Amino acid sequence: MLPTVLILVGSWATLQADLLSDKKATGIAQVLLHWDPNPDQEQSNVELRYHVKIHAPQEDDYNTRKTESKYVAPLHNGFAASVRSILRRSHFFLASSWVSAELKASPGSSGTSVMNLTCATNTVVSSHTHVKPYQVSLRCTWLVGKDAPEDTQYFLYYRFGVWTEECQEYSRDTLNRNTACWFPRTFINSKGFEQLAVHINGSSKHAAIKPFDQLFTPHSIDQVNPPRNVTVEIEETSLYIQWEKPVSAFPVHCFNYELKIHNTKNGYFQMEKLATNKFISKIDDVSTYSIQVRAVVSSFCRASGSWGEWSQPIYVGKEKKPLAEWRLIVFPATACFVLFIFSLICRVCHIWIKLFPPVPAPKSNIKDLLVVTDYEKAAWNETKIEVVSCVEEAGFEVMENSMF
Ligand SMILES: *[C@@H]1O[C@H](CO)[C@@H](O)[C@H](O)[C@H]1NC(C)=O
Ligand SMILES: *[C@@H]1O[C@H](CO)[C@@H](O)[C@H](O)[C@H]1NC(C)=O
Repeated sequence: MLPTVLILVGSWATLQADLLSDKKATGIAQVLLHWDPNPDQEQSNVELRYHVKIHAPQEDDYNTRKTESKYVAPLHNGFAASVRSILRRSHFFLASSWVSAELKASPGSSGTSVMNLTCATNTVVSSHTHVKPYQVSLRCTWLVGKDAPEDTQYFLYYRFGVWTEECQEYSRDTLNRNTACWFPRTFINSKGFEQLAVHINGSSKHAAIKPFDQLFTPHSIDQVNPPRNVTVEIEETSLYIQWEKPVSAFPVHCFNYELKIHNTKNGYFQMEKLATNKFISKIDDVSTYSIQVRAVVSSFCRASGSWGEWSQPIYVGKEKKPLAEWRLIVFPATACFVLFIFSLICRVCHIWIKLFPPVPAPKSNIKDLLVVTDYEKAAWNETKIEVVSCVEEAGFEVMENSMF
């Protein structure tokens, strides 16, 4: 037996230090295990491997040739691991004794941690199209821990690969405690295989708030968008239905669809599972139909997730006014009404101006002359007033005609 002693540089403090010195707080639900090889082991004719055993939070077991290893796991209840070296010379295996290290559970009682954490991602068209065509948003919600004091405040962080971000947009409960978080864009890749790590810690003046870690597989929390531009056309006794793939980083061939044709007259539902983006259905032409489509990313492209949202229903057929036509009627009617009110207002203004004529604007020379001559001819008082008003009336008519 070879005397092989391994040193696991992994006390609580050392592990923590390694985490923080790593790229952007990789510490969220991730530990770096590091050990030093025994100097006596450096022999050229032997094959050296390390056997790593994880004891907590869940048992796990693997081999590596390297002297360090990143391990992803929720850490709020602590972490414990052991390592030994395995020497192989021709057909002989020699194993060293184990060395161990652990991270203690985070302080605070478990009743102060958040509960029922759920997260969902959604793909949207990027607002920065020159960088990436799509961006992934993330929304998480949780319940306040049952033993958390009233002044508790929670903070959410996520890690995807080496990227870590803190939440900037929280929703709060009546006691002003954060209970949901929204990231409009993230570093999450919906086509990626890595796990999404979410960490929620907190603070309170009255108690230590125990942090909480949870890992999510991206495909299982990804909400697939509904298919786009669904169109339905009726030709005699056939429905021609077409749509486009949802907003998604996955290409066209990655989607399966489910089509729902609801006969609103007899209540019958026709459901179709499809890999194409069109469908023709026979119909009877006295019924009305509502048509909806939803999508799922097929197992060719990733581990299958769940169905996305249904598209907005499209109504076709006889009888009931289909929604689109209804809008066609309401809109012109509203427009006519607005025009009518407008012309009414114009009329009223018109009358108003007639009743209370504006202060005379500069008049044409002819009219001035007219006034002057009438002036001279007529007696001083009443006649003057009459003639002036008459002239202004005429001036107004001219202006009105040129306006309309
Ligand atoms: C929270 O989760 C627990 C089990 O994990 C469940 O029994 C409970 O109904 C959930 N509460 C709510 C409000 O969803
Ligand atoms: C919560 O966790 C983040 C990331 O690990 C850390 O930077 C922050 O100081 C923690 N806050 C509290 C209140 O523990």
